[in-house]
Amino acid sequence: MIYGYATGADGKPSAPIKLNIQDYCHILLTGSTGSGKSYALLYLIGCLLKDSPETEVFICDFKNSEDFRFLNDYPLYYAGQHCYEGVMEFFRRFNDARENGKSFKRRVLIFDEYPSYIFYQSMMDKDNKTKLVSDVTNAIATTLMLGRGISHAAWLVTQRAESSLFANGSRDNFQIIIGLGRLSKEQKGMIFTGEEIPNEPMKRGEGHLLSDGHKLRKVKFPLISDINDWKWHIYDILMRNLEHNRDSSQSTPLA
Ligand SMILES: Nc1ncnc2c1ncn2[C@@H]1O[C@H](COP(=O)(O)OP(=O)(O)OP(=O)(O)O)[C@@H](O)[C@H]1O
Ligand SMILES: [Mg+2]
Repeated sequence: MIYGYATGADGKPSAPIKLNIQDYCHILLTGSTGSGKSYALLYLIGCLLKDSPETEVFICDFKNSEDFRFLNDYPLYYAGQHCYEGVMEFFRRFNDARENGKSFKRRVLIFDEYPSYIFYQSMMDKDNKTKLVSDVTNAIATTLMLGRGISHAAWLVTQRAESSLFANGSRDNFQIIIGLGRLSKEQKGMIFTGEEIPNEPMKRGEGHLLSDGHKLRKVKFPLISDINDWKWHIYDILMRNLEHNRDSSQSTPLA
């Protein structure tokens, strides 16, 4: 699938960065607020469904943002506190696939604003004497460590990416790391350890991409000319997939 575009000398998107979705499974998308993460995420979801239209996509949107409101009546969309249910339902199906080996269906768990959820839920856990945060971090760590072989992916979107968010060192399991905008020295150290990144200005939707086995490269996400149409296609395919899973009929690729 396409994971963004390389930039030409004029700074415009040029060649697509195309990688095999099976090998480049887990994505960490990070950048400061307003750097274009959610927008890039919408782009990537569209690319995923173009490449692999039958994928079952779980979307957790802790911020309950306008960006994903078009998914309100999509049953695998979870906003705010409901993100917990989303992760747990994904993990239940993940475990089912692992144990029964009955399907190698591609499944992707997407979590926008993952650290904000972890921060919020940690406070709730203290008040309520619950341990929901560890359920979530363990489910995500297990997916990152064991998901690739059974086509179960985690795509996490974060403003920061400290290792404490990822249980048992599982941060090392992302095959794709995208850092949008200008990253602080500390952030660069966290996600692009040992890479030399010039301190140049970045526009929204621009940044760097590190994929397993390749050198760090610049990446740009293009402006989607008709965002409502793009969202409509995503919604349409996701809803068809639900039906397809029910009655095994075919879904249509993203136009
Ligand atoms: N690739 C792009 N090209 C041009 N403009 C963009 C691009 N991506 C995002 N923008 C603009 O920047 C704004 C902020 O983008 P977005 O909401 O994706 O940022 P974010 O990193 O998710 O921010 P937050 O952390 O606040 O959620 C968008 O409303 C859009 O107008
Ligand atoms: Mg956002």
